[in-house]
Amino acid sequence: KTELRLGIAGLGTVGANVAQLIERKADVLAERVGRDLRITAISARDRSRNRGFDTHGMQWFDDPVALAREAKIDAFVELIGGSEGIPLQAVEAALKRGIPVVTANKALLAHHGVALAKLATENGTELLFEAAVAGGIPVIKTMREALSGNDVSRVYGILNGTCNYILTRMEKEGIGFDACLRDAQALGYAEADPTFDIGGYDAAHKLAILTSLAFGTEISLESIFIEGISKISIDDITAAQELGYRIKLLAVAVRTDSGIEQRVHPAMIPARSSLAQVDGVTNAVAIDSDLLGSILLAGPGAGGAATASAVLSDVMDVAGGFVPPTLGLPPSRLQPYQRARMRAHEGGYYIRLA
Ligand code: HSE
Repeated sequence: KTELRLGIAGLGTVGANVAQLIERKADVLAERVGRDLRITAISARDRSRNRGFDTHGMQWFDDPVALAREAKIDAFVELIGGSEGIPLQAVEAALKRGIPVVTANKALLAHHGVALAKLATENGTELLFEAAVAGGIPVIKTMREALSGNDVSRVYGILNGTCNYILTRMEKEGIGFDACLRDAQALGYAEADPTFDIGGYDAAHKLAILTSLAFGTEISLESIFIEGISKISIDDITAAQELGYRIKLLAVAVRTDSGIEQRVHPAMIPARSSLAQVDGVTNAVAIDSDLLGSILLAGPGAGGAATASAVLSDVMDVAGGFVPPTLGLPPSRLQPYQRARMRAHEGGYYIRLA
């Protein structure tokens, strides 16, 4: 099998999870895409920390930009975070070499996404960013692939796991804002600077990306109305509850007669609606389009494992030459009980469920 050599810059919660996943699932992943995924270069601020994976055979770079420029890699995975300076330079350097880039960096894309996508195209390569919006939920692939023939009229939902986690615990457990935020940080949900979460900026970054994909527009962060959740008290939440509502931080982009309206703010939504049921770190994205009507995607919106799952899906796209594994697992991957069930199926006209 040929190798896909990966360079990973940024080994925080998400980066470490990606490296652990690639180590743990190496055989299965290789079988699915017909290539071995091998991390050959890494970069992070602290060289000494144990991050739960074997760094043997990986070249260490102190400078992520040098990694992107010089390392012998077939794909560059940017998980540093931040919109300016080093992450931007590193992504540009990789794209200029024609190396595909996988990133979870929503701030970077919200500020420079269109320019970076153009740079990728000019250099005959790809910019992939499933992990940048709504953690593990496959909303980018849904938008780029499944809805590519639709005209979207509205995209909205809960796009920040930290805020939803805080609001849920304030409501259900009566715990104060600050204590909830500390827990969200300890669980690896919050941004390095949690002001981005509670101020609504992280949700705005994600909304800007979704808007651009949904409506084919340039990204316009400046035109988003942004209000965070820091002023929401338990009293507000209780008052809403008494009226049959729950408070959620919503991000909304909608096509209007005068253009695309984009906003992020806390909203009272009817307690019985699907979005109101979305609790904890879960995110949810609703998309209204002409052919499909309304769909709602929901799932883990932050945290190492969920976000790493999305990063890995992009890496797999690169490894498989953008052709995903198709129907029919290789037989060696079938566990004995699956084989038994297959035989039952072949023999009769049913699949036994237990
Ligand atoms: N801090 C982000 C959140 C991480 O809480 O949603 C996922 O992008």
